[in-house]
Amino acid sequence: MKNIIITGGAGFIGSHVVREFVKKLPETTIINLDALTYAGNLENLKDIESEPNYVFEKADITKPEELRKVFEKYHPDAVVHLAAESHVDRSITDPNAFINTNVIGTANLLNLCREFWTLNPDHTHGRFPDEPRKNLFYHVSTDEVYGALGATGFFTEETPYDPQSPYSASKASSDHFVRAYGNTYGLPFVVSNCSNNYGPNHFPEKLIPLCIHNILEEKPLPIYGDGKYTRDWLFVIDHARAIFQIFHEARTGETYNIGGWNEWQNIDLVKELIRQVDEKTGKPSGYSEKLITFVKDRPGHDKRYAIDASKLNRDLGWKPSVTFEEGLSRTIDWFLENKEWLDNVTSGAYQDYYRKQYH
Ligand code: NAD
Ligand code: TYD
Repeated sequence: MKNIIITGGAGFIGSHVVREFVKKLPETTIINLDALTYAGNLENLKDIESEPNYVFEKADITKPEELRKVFEKYHPDAVVHLAAESHVDRSITDPNAFINTNVIGTANLLNLCREFWTLNPDHTHGRFPDEPRKNLFYHVSTDEVYGALGATGFFTEETPYDPQSPYSASKASSDHFVRAYGNTYGLPFVVSNCSNNYGPNHFPEKLIPLCIHNILEEKPLPIYGDGKYTRDWLFVIDHARAIFQIFHEARTGETYNIGGWNEWQNIDLVKELIRQVDEKTGKPSGYSEKLITFVKDRPGHDKRYAIDASKLNRDLGWKPSVTFEEGLSRTIDWFLENKEWLDNVTSGAYQDYYRKQYH
C-alpha cells in the first residue's frame, strides 16, 4: 500500500499507532488526519514528525468537505480510524459531541471509502475473505460496546453488544455502520475492540495519568463510588503492535478483541500507583495514600470489564510484550521525564505547538 490515512493520530493511542506504522513501513506514506481537539497534541509525535514518510493533515471528520480534500490529495489505500471523542465522563455531560464525531464522523469516512474504493472499477476491494486485499477500513474500537460484566466472565468476540454510556453507544453504533458497509457495499474492513489502555502521552483526564499527575502535585485522587469497579489494563504500545499485526494479517471482515488479562479494581490500582510514584520520588512508603478521596459515583458506571483475547493469540500469535508492573513503571518514568509535556497539557500550552509548527 502506498498511502495509509490514520485518523486521530495526534491523540493518545493514535500517536503510538502512527509511530508504529511510520517506522515499520518506510515505503508507505502515513497521513495523520486529525482535527486537533483538546485531546490532540502534535508534541506526541515530535520524534517522528520529520520522517520522510510522515505527513500531517488537519481535518475534522464531521466535515465531509475537509475529508474529501485529503482523500483527493492522497487517494488512500487504507484508513486506520481512531479519531473519536474518547472520555466517558465527557460523554455524560455532552453526548452530542460523541454522536457527531464517533457516529456521523465515522459514517463520513465510510462514505468516502465506499466512493473511492468499492465504486471505483480500478480497485479490487477484497469483498470475500480470501480475495487479495487492496484496500482496508480498520476500525479501532473499545470493549465498552459489550456493556458491563458481573463478578465473573469475559467479553469474547461473540458477546452481544450492550453499550451503557453515551460513549460506548456511539462506538457500538460506529462498529455497526462499519460492518453494515462491509455487508452491503463490500467495503473491506476489520474491527478490533480493546480494553483500557495506559502509557506515555495519556491525557491526564483518565484515571491513571490523572492520578500520576495528582500524586506529583499532592492533589486529591478522586475515586468514584466505592472504588471496587474493575478495568482490564493494556500498555498502549502493545495495543499499537496488535493493530499493526491485525492490519496486515487479519482476514477481511474479522473482529478481534485485544486485552492483557490484567484486571484491577480501581482502588487497588490507585494504591499501586501511589506505591510506585512515592518510591520513585523518594517519599516514605504510603505517603500519598492520604490523597485518596472517595467522590460521587459516575452515573451508570459499568461495574467490570474483562477481555478474552485468546482469538488474537490463537489466530495471529499476538500477546502483550510487557508485564503490567513493567508497563506501569515505564509509564510513571515517562511522566517523570516529561514534566514539560504534562505542564503544557494541563496549562493548555500544548495547543501552541501546532500553531508554531504549522502556521
Ligand atoms: P484521544 O481522546 O486521546 O484522541 C482522540 C484523537 O482524535 C485526538 O487526537 C483528537 O484531536 C482526534 N479527534 C477527535 N475528534 C475529531 C474529529 N472530529 N476529527 C478529527 N479528529 C478528531 O483518544 P484515545 O484514547 O487515543 O482513543 C483512540 C481510539 O481508540 C478511539 O476511537 C477510542 O474509542 C479507542 N479506544 C480507546 C481506548 C482507551 O483506553 N483510551 C481503549 C479502546 C479503544
Ligand atoms: P477512565 O480512565 O475514565 O476509563 P473508562 O471509563 O473508559 O473505563 O476510568 C477508569 C475507571 O476509573 C472507571 O471505573 C472510572 C474510574 N475513575 C475514578 O474512579 N476516578 C476518576 O477521576 C476517573 C477519571 C475515573
